[in-house]
Amino acid sequence: MSKVHVLFENEDWMPPLRAALDAKGLPYVEHALVDGHVDLSAVPPEGVFINRMSPSSHTRGHQGGVTFLQQYLHVLEAHGRRVINGSTAFSLEVSKVRQDLALSVAGIQTPRTLAVVGGPDRLKLAARTMDLPFITKDNQGGKGLGVRLFRDLAAFDAYVDGDEFVVGPDNVTLLQQYIAPRGSFITRVEIVDGVFQYAIKSSTEGGFELCPADACSIGDDFCPVGEDARFSLREEITAEDPLVAAYISMMRANNIDVAGIEFVEDADGQRYTYDINGTTNFNGDVERAHGLSGMTAIVELAERCLNELLVPA
Ligand SMILES: Nc1ncnc2c1ncn2[C@@H]1O[C@H](COP(=O)(O)OP(=O)(O)O)[C@@H](O)[C@H]1O
Ligand SMILES: [Mg+2]
Repeated sequence: MSKVHVLFENEDWMPPLRAALDAKGLPYVEHALVDGHVDLSAVPPEGVFINRMSPSSHTRGHQGGVTFLQQYLHVLEAHGRRVINGSTAFSLEVSKVRQDLALSVAGIQTPRTLAVVGGPDRLKLAARTMDLPFITKDNQGGKGLGVRLFRDLAAFDAYVDGDEFVVGPDNVTLLQQYIAPRGSFITRVEIVDGVFQYAIKSSTEGGFELCPADACSIGDDFCPVGEDARFSLREEITAEDPLVAAYISMMRANNIDVAGIEFVEDADGQRYTYDINGTTNFNGDVERAHGLSGMTAIVELAERCLNELLVPA
């Protein structure tokens, strides 16, 4: 019988997905991908694959998981396997450059961003073409990696010359227009299979400074997971919101099945989108309080995909 195959790296994120799979009674197999080998002449298992590989794997010593998964997705897709968040989605997951381009193509406003390859001198040159304040972040991000706010160039120069600055695994650092958040919060919109689930807001008080993951008990990519009063449902954002509709068509255009998409509103109410999280985590407290379950939506998608395998082509 065909099964659900979960491809993952971070054990900490697995319990909610396991619980949702168990609740549905779907047969599943877990594949912890850190390294390994794949026989290119072998036929991959039947079934539906859920990609839960974290773009911050390298912070747990598992960048090999990202590389392995990228190659394995080619194998799976060559054999026609259905992957939830397959190779196109994953190419965005590990590149905020690609996220920005996909958003821009869809007509969604993004902060001005420079992608910089090179050491301190290159970064300093690039910084001099940015308006202040700006922020830095890793291109292959998650959990606020490399996110810093700079209000003056002297502080930036000292940072890139110092020990704290560490370039990300792909050697790309972004310099990005800082959008001061109106109301001191950012918003994250959860979408599964073209269906708006809900939006939450995350307070930036206490400093986004700079990583919403700082307060997260699990401590990973965005981390709206922790028990944290900073997260609440943003009820006025609905499926009818034009930005949500634009997100859904952007996801369709890029074969993204699952994403939590973040935007920040400036003082004039302009909305800037800056992060697409395919390996989205859901806030348990907010979900319990409002009877929501993003993981159930993911599992229901997997179930629909499994059922499609039963129908003769
Ligand atoms: N351009 C920006 N303007 C203002 N705040 C930002 C901007 N980009 C990121 N942030 C803040 O930094 C946090 C982490 O940045 P993000 O791009 O989401 O990286 P990650 O992929 O590591 O989550 C965001 O949740 C937000 O609070
Ligand atoms: Mg984020």
